[in-house]
Amino acid sequence: MPANGSLILPGDKSISHRSVMLAALSSQRSKIANISNGEDVRSTISCLIDCGIKIDFSKENLFVTGGTFEQPASDLDCGNSGTTMRLLIGLLAGQGINANFIGDKSLSNRPMDRIIEPLKRMGLNIESNNLKPPIHISKSDLKGIDYNMPISSAQVKSTILLAALGAKSETKITEKVISRDHSEIMFKNIDVNIISKDRSIKVSPCDEFSPLNIHIPADPSTAAFFIGAAVLMPGSKLRVINLLLNDTRIGFLKALEKMGCSFNYYNVHEESGEKVGDIEVIHHKLSGININSSDIPSIIDELPMLALIATQAEGVTKVSGAEELRVKESDRINAICKNLKEVGSDIVEKSDGFIINGATQLRSGNIDTFNDHRIAMTFHIASIVSGEKIILNNTDCVDISFPDFYKTLKSVIR
Ligand code: S3P
Repeated sequence: MPANGSLILPGDKSISHRSVMLAALSSQRSKIANISNGEDVRSTISCLIDCGIKIDFSKENLFVTGGTFEQPASDLDCGNSGTTMRLLIGLLAGQGINANFIGDKSLSNRPMDRIIEPLKRMGLNIESNNLKPPIHISKSDLKGIDYNMPISSAQVKSTILLAALGAKSETKITEKVISRDHSEIMFKNIDVNIISKDRSIKVSPCDEFSPLNIHIPADPSTAAFFIGAAVLMPGSKLRVINLLLNDTRIGFLKALEKMGCSFNYYNVHEESGEKVGDIEVIHHKLSGININSSDIPSIIDELPMLALIATQAEGVTKVSGAEELRVKESDRINAICKNLKEVGSDIVEKSDGFIINGATQLRSGNIDTFNDHRIAMTFHIASIVSGEKIILNNTDCVDISFPDFYKTLKSVIR
């Protein structure tokens, strides 16, 4: 069954979280169009409402008026969303708020030492449950730091940047490999003094912010499932409209190009500092590739789908340097390997990735989604491209990032 037609997808999840948080800093009204309708971004919105930020919806837009944050009356529930918890801790620390952050079972097991350590260095009073949630922060005088990031993580970078807005002095962050840079781009949009050069970023404290007026481009991490399906199914011709094409987010497209795909791009332009454009995807025969640590940040969320694609490519695909995948919504290295083996793939699990020997015809099997939206979407695509009876438990977890996933897929695969 080929994938055909044009897709208009909801806005990028990372930019959506940041849009509401940054809009909350401004006392003027911000307008945000095409925000992600997933549960993760809803967690961010409801936490900010709990902090006294005024947020209204119209059919097309979200309007935010902030400027002053209030002490939340109860725990801030971040649900399944690591981005909500980590970035909001940075934001509220910078605004001098006392708060307690909780999450669901998955989030309660995710590491928070990565933000606790730099925030403590900045002078934040922060307590945790053995370096995991719940996290409690209390109003503290913050100072700027000069921080060399031990891991490549846009969440950690953004947490520090947000806290740095309320510090007494400038903050400098240096990354090993550049991670997604939406916070830096959006700081410029709200008139924060921020300078990025090579792998270093300097940000000055700030207490007056311009409002945002943004149309959020389509999420490349969601688009990856549709693009991957089109690449795998003969006869496909699929267009994704107004897709985010930021260099730090196109590792999946670059990997597919190395595997033998070529894409047509249309209407490529810049919007609110982000590169966007339409992409046209057709079926291609693929061969295996190597993906290593310097590629990982730009493809981190797309690795489950890439692994599925690699099972259909001739030869060996080796992914290394991806140990961060073990601390996502699930242990994604384990989830990918266990489930791909279940449906007949030749895959070997490594501590920091996996090795896949393709091409294999997938067979029927029972998939454990581990309640992880990206694992569920990957294996639903596996069932469609293979035509086999691949059965998933808890299919509803796709609501975390894309509640309309099944409906949208049906609209292009007929
Ligand atoms: C995100 C950064 C990535 C990514 C996550 C969203 C962000 O996490 O996996 O889905 O919005 O900053 P890390 O920065 O921890 O790798």
